[in-house]
Amino acid sequence: MTPALAKRLIIGGMVAIGTLLILAIYLPAFRPDPNNTVEGSAAIGDAFTLTDHTGAEVTEQVLLGRYSLIYFGFTYCPDICPMTLQTVADAIEILPGQKGESVQPVFITLDPKRDTVETISSYVSNFHSSMVGLTGTQDQVQKAADAYRVFFREAPIGDDGDYTIDHSGFLYLMNRSGRYIDHFGKDVTMEDLSARLRELL
Ligand code: NI
Repeated sequence: MTPALAKRLIIGGMVAIGTLLILAIYLPAFRPDPNNTVEGSAAIGDAFTLTDHTGAEVTEQVLLGRYSLIYFGFTYCPDICPMTLQTVADAIEILPGQKGESVQPVFITLDPKRDTVETISSYVSNFHSSMVGLTGTQDQVQKAADAYRVFFREAPIGDDGDYTIDHSGFLYLMNRSGRYIDHFGKDVTMEDLSARLRELL
């Protein structure tokens, strides 16, 4: 073996070992986490304790067993909230056969001062018979909103104490284990939403 060939073999060996080391370090990071279907999904959805529209205390376990479409809003909202909830109800209704029974629409109020159990109960029944309405104390609502990265704040109207709620308006799709799968903006149509659900059911 000539010295030049030996040198080449040594360098070649070092490069190969270096490459293997880099692969060993970085490859695990590229493996998809089987628990998360979407990158960053761990950040959306977490434990909560709230009261449902029948007055029962519920936790995030209310999401188990069915796909859930979760929307945070308030019953006094004049436009975006009712439009989105109607889209959700319609998307579930146009699913073929009994598939709609596998999807649970959930409305969580950001205005617990005005949205009592009674208010929420009549509100959700306007949209869909299987819609769950959730309210709670201000603190419970804040924690639930934080768990879903929902921004909201009271915005006064005039000076007689009236107010509206400024809030982010994403609709969240969670799987049967209560884990985040997808989200939709306020312009989502019932056709798009229904098509996404059909992919899963
Ligand atoms: Ni709204």
